[in-house]
Amino acid sequence: MEKLSGKMKKFIHKETILTDIKKAALNIFLLTLEDNQISEAINPGQFLQLKIKGKILRRPFSIFSRSNNTIKILFRVCGEGTKILSEMKPQSKLDIIGPLGNGFPLDSKSPLFIAGGLGVAPLNFLANEIKNSGKFIYGTKHENEFVALSFPETTKHKIIKISEEKDKKNVCDILPEHLENTDTVYASGPRKMLKKVADICTKNKTTCFITWEERMGCGFGLCQSCAVKTRAGYKMTCADGPVFNINELDWHEH
Ligand code: FES
Repeated sequence: MEKLSGKMKKFIHKETILTDIKKAALNIFLLTLEDNQISEAINPGQFLQLKIKGKILRRPFSIFSRSNNTIKILFRVCGEGTKILSEMKPQSKLDIIGPLGNGFPLDSKSPLFIAGGLGVAPLNFLANEIKNSGKFIYGTKHENEFVALSFPETTKHKIIKISEEKDKKNVCDILPEHLENTDTVYASGPRKMLKKVADICTKNKTTCFITWEERMGCGFGLCQSCAVKTRAGYKMTCADGPVFNINELDWHEH
């Protein structure tokens, strides 16, 4: 394998308190952590590594939103680790590391957010932080998988929800008709969706940033388990990403 990239950045390692956990949609939970250090330092697109009781490896989680003294994490129960997490009680302690990875550029004047499934988490956070209003297209397979978005009054993003079950189409089907007057597309979701979004934005010459997912070990550039093929060779999703401009990735490999 070619030489891997990846730079270790400063992060915070601490024990925090889980203050709330609630069901947000079918099989999806919203967890609130007490914190006033990482919440201040973290940017949309960056992530946390959580230590789940009984599990050796930490797991990466995107941030859904933050306030002065809390961080919210959205996750789907899809295995033993996330099942344990979903059953934790308020006031439990959690060992966390963050902020990790890079983050989205925030300077779009007319953003278009494309969220597929759980990809809504980093984009909800991003849409809270981008000052200019745009459109937020949010797609799921089923109606009962939508979670409530949370934007402050000051952000006037137009929300368009689409479920494959009810609308018989997906976010990529309607993306082209929303590209006019958009300077930047921000996308997060399943790989198949991202590939299609990248293809549409490339043809339309629209700037597009996506969040890339790979299995992760350390989360900060040491274990090399999250390599992703880019046009400049292999990079590490955890340290060089997870946010990439679509022009950086070698899409023939993915
Ligand atoms: S180098 Fe990316 S997870 Fe370890």
